[in-house]
Amino acid sequence: MTDAPSPLSQDMPPQELSARLEQANRQLVQSEKMAAIGQLAAGVAHEINNPVGYVYSNLQSLGTYLTDLFRLTDAVDTAESLEDLRQIRKSIDYDFLRGDLEDLLAESREGIERVKTIIAAMKDFSHTEEEEFRYADLHRGIETTLNVVNNELKYKAEVVRDFGDLPEIECIISQLNQVVMNLLVNAAHAIEESGTITIRTRSEGGFVTLDITDSGKGIEQAHLNRIFEPFFTTKPVGRGTGLGLSLSFNIIEKHSGQITATSTPGQGTTFHIRLPVSQPHSPASV
Ligand SMILES: Nc1ncnc2c1ncn2[C@@H]1O[C@H](COP(=O)(O)OP(=O)(O)OP(=O)(O)O)[C@@H](O)[C@H]1O
Ligand SMILES: [Mg+2]
Repeated sequence: MTDAPSPLSQDMPPQELSARLEQANRQLVQSEKMAAIGQLAAGVAHEINNPVGYVYSNLQSLGTYLTDLFRLTDAVDTAESLEDLRQIRKSIDYDFLRGDLEDLLAESREGIERVKTIIAAMKDFSHTEEEEFRYADLHRGIETTLNVVNNELKYKAEVVRDFGDLPEIECIISQLNQVVMNLLVNAAHAIEESGTITIRTRSEGGFVTLDITDSGKGIEQAHLNRIFEPFFTTKPVGRGTGLGLSLSFNIIEKHSGQITATSTPGQGTTFHIRLPVSQPHSPASV
């Protein structure tokens, strides 16, 4: 059995304290990510359930149609006359069957495409081993995240993409995806019935900016400078952990970037992120 680490204390040598905080932060990033993925898994299951449901029922219809079609082709050998064949063709409602077959196949293909997209997004999202900074496409990360949180957003918000021309940026994309996910889920929670979430990206010199604006209930001035604190939440007990934004803050800081929020109560909130295209010096992994 290994010794449990001694509790953090202010008397510790600063280097040890900093190493321990660093380790605690790493664990927090990991456990928050696992919790988020767990919570989303339910939503994703729901998303997959729908296309799988209709592909399954389409397969059943296809089975019935095939039985009818076989009746027709088998009759080629047994029918006494062409007229008999025409009769069978009429009785199976051939014209309808043909049209419907094409529709069923197209719809099933679309359903399977949707499932494939969701699975690809989950894979992109859960690159737990990916802990190194490398150049990646932020827009692709945003699309991946939108696919994962679609279930939380679709009944509440219209998502507007106002994308600029971005270079690839040096980052740990799975962690930036996590930040985008926190911001999108918070935005959806802030919208009571229905509203808009705008995602705006721009490139400015050696930086890129990402703004996520919602038309939700906004944040009171008194809360605005507390939202990045760990465990600060206005959600009911059991709903929010209050870790989403503090975690996002840490991730953006590790990327040598900034994250700020502006809000007008009753009108909405914007989270503004600024990230360097290249990390200033040989970056340590988070
Ligand atoms: N877009 C937003 N609109 C209004 N309030 C927000 C928004 N984003 C964050 N907040 C406020 O900031 C608080 C902290 O957000 P944070 O994401 O850190 O935690 P949480 O959403 O409460 O819980 P968790 O993300 O851990 O489930 C929220 O409880 C909410 O009061
Ligand atoms: Mg949150």
